[in-house]
Amino acid sequence: MPTVLITGGHSGIGLDCSKDLAARGFDLVLAGRSPARMQIVAQELRSAHNVDVLLVELDTSSLASVRTAADECQSLLQRGEIGSLVAVICNAGGRFDGDVRYSEDGYELTFATNCLGHFLLVQLTVPLLAARGRVVFTASGTHDPDTMDGRMVGAAMKPDAFALANDGKDGSRPLSAGKRYSTSKLCDVMYAYELARRLERAGSSVSAISFDPGSIPSTGFLRDMPKAMQWLANTRLFGWVSRRMGVVTSTSKFSGTSLAQIATEDQYPTGSYLQANAGTLTKVRSSTVSYDEQIAVTLWNDSKDLVGLIPDEEPAELR
Ligand SMILES: NC(=O)c1ccc[n+]([C@@H]2O[C@H](COP(=O)([O-])OP(=O)(O)OC[C@H]3O[C@@H](n4cnc5c(N)ncnc54)[C@H](OP(=O)(O)O)[C@@H]3O)[C@@H](O)[C@H]2O)c1
Repeated sequence: MPTVLITGGHSGIGLDCSKDLAARGFDLVLAGRSPARMQIVAQELRSAHNVDVLLVELDTSSLASVRTAADECQSLLQRGEIGSLVAVICNAGGRFDGDVRYSEDGYELTFATNCLGHFLLVQLTVPLLAARGRVVFTASGTHDPDTMDGRMVGAAMKPDAFALANDGKDGSRPLSAGKRYSTSKLCDVMYAYELARRLERAGSSVSAISFDPGSIPSTGFLRDMPKAMQWLANTRLFGWVSRRMGVVTSTSKFSGTSLAQIATEDQYPTGSYLQANAGTLTKVRSSTVSYDEQIAVTLWNDSKDLVGLIPDEEPAELR
């Protein structure tokens, strides 16, 4: 059966995506760092939809963990436990409030979790994808400083991988949590565009897309925020005010289902950026800088250095 690999598929938007995929008969590989919670979701999906749901431990902030998880996926394919891998959904991620933190590899945690881990995962799993396979990055409208979403969170910075990975290390004031987040999502959009260009140049049938699920306060996304703020963000009044101010809003169910469709349906073209907004999924323009191909190439090459990609690991179609 066709199988979809999803990071963070056991909660929030990812869970709604997993449910939709399972209901449509796709087998799943749930990749995440919370095995006990993943196990419960896997059991529920298996019994509700009679699909195979496999678990792979993966902490996207750890490059060693990403390499182990990618090896595990390859073994599952070789042993025939996965029929064919039709999509990789890079969905895990978050915003890390409070003092700047660093991953076990020494990189700023937002950039490590939301960007470098998925960048490496994509490098290692693209060769495992079936013909016409799809790679989808869950990005965010906050990446665009010319939108209300982008302004509210903190305008994204220039996507300089070395600067982002080492943010605050030289004793200078680190970026705010909001800016770290919006910039990480700008990098995700640019990874998807650059991936799409490289695949297309190589004549590959694999697609690469990025997706803005819209603002959804009901997921675990605001978990680092004070409880009162989380409560307020989930009130109807807050939602109404947000929409009036021009914030892109959605529900976990709609965005999860949209993500599942983008990952499995040919109608969404490679190189596109899609947005879920008040019950509608449309192809929209991303930020101005996200279309800068020179910056994207530099981001790509610097990310390769930061994840320590060795020539043997780099798929020919992505060189
Ligand atoms: N909700 C929004 O308003 C919104 C808006 C735009 C974009 N997004 C994006 O949507 C995606 C899903 O977020 P959500 O709203 O569904 O929030 P969520 O409920 O907090 O889900 C985030 C998922 O990411 C996983 N994750 C976080 N750090 C990880 C790590 N180091 N390794 C592996 N998995 C990790 C979490 O796993 P654990 O359970 O183990 O923590 C969880 O499954 C994220 O990329 C987020 O940035 C959300």
